[in-house]
Amino acid sequence: GKYRVISTKSMPGTRWINLLIEQDCRLEICTQKKTILSVEDIISLIGDRCDGVIGQLTEDWGETLFSALSRAGGKAFSNMAVGYNNVDVNAANKYGVAVGNTPGVLTETTAELAASLSLAAARRIVEADEFMRAGLYDGWLPHLFVGNLLKGQTVGVIGAGRIGSAYARMMVEGFKMNLIYYDLYQATRLEKFVTGMSYGQFLKANGEQPVTWKRASSMDEVLREADVEAILINCSRGPVIDEVALVEHLRANPMFRVGLDVFEDEPYMKPGLSEMKNAIVVPHIASASKWTREGMATLAALNVLGKIKGYPIWGDPNRVEPFLDENSPPPA
Ligand code: GLV
Ligand code: GLV
Repeated sequence: GKYRVISTKSMPGTRWINLLIEQDCRLEICTQKKTILSVEDIISLIGDRCDGVIGQLTEDWGETLFSALSRAGGKAFSNMAVGYNNVDVNAANKYGVAVGNTPGVLTETTAELAASLSLAAARRIVEADEFMRAGLYDGWLPHLFVGNLLKGQTVGVIGAGRIGSAYARMMVEGFKMNLIYYDLYQATRLEKFVTGMSYGQFLKANGEQPVTWKRASSMDEVLREADVEAILINCSRGPVIDEVALVEHLRANPMFRVGLDVFEDEPYMKPGLSEMKNAIVVPHIASASKWTREGMATLAALNVLGKIKGYPIWGDPNRVEPFLDENSPPPA
């Protein structure tokens, strides 16, 4: 291989590997056992000569790593993630390293996890499962694990981008919920979808109430007006929630429930959270379907390959830009 490409982790599937190898790359996949690589670990992987790196959201891609990569002749970095809050894009620009991410392929998978958490929280699935396994079930009771009906309630979405909109569509169409959303941009397509649902044949034919949507002018308005205010789901990044305040709130309000995929100080949970029965916690698995993870690996490889082979993928290759949008076909 003419180009030396490093992947800091083994990733699902083989397509991404074949793509790189077929295009003159010598691929090195780090086999270190530790889950999270330090900046020093990655510097030693980069070594004296490295054309591009595929990295992970657990790594701190800042000034130090981009200068090391640039000194080794590297021109490309891709996160295997849609989020890139672990990447200092300005530092990358400064050292002439293009940065890519992997949107599109994880939209529905992530939205499905948010929907799963919503239903699991509403119907207390995890608590009920623990109860069964503990041998506590001794017969049907009118009060046993009574939860919330979603139908006809209002689902609130903060951030109606690709994932937020897909989740909103699932909840509106699947569970006949009304929608209130907050976003800096108007989610025109989502609004049309909900309007279409309202006047569509299905609801009419079944004599159902129309569903409604509203664009809120602030996040507070969403939190005030959404009925699923009694249920809070976070599938974005941990720091959007003050976890200590959340634990206090969960303690004081047993009927309030949360479903969390991400944590303020990942991989740790703030004290008390793991004891709360009204919290469902999963380890940052929102994008974890086989199809999606293979797609993310493929996009990450294409991001790096595109830059080092000089394909004009982006108008401005030094900026993180979506690789696919929601109209793009999934990778073959
Ligand atoms: C996962 O959290 C991602 O950003 O892809
Ligand atoms: C519950 O099982 C019912 O029959 O209402």
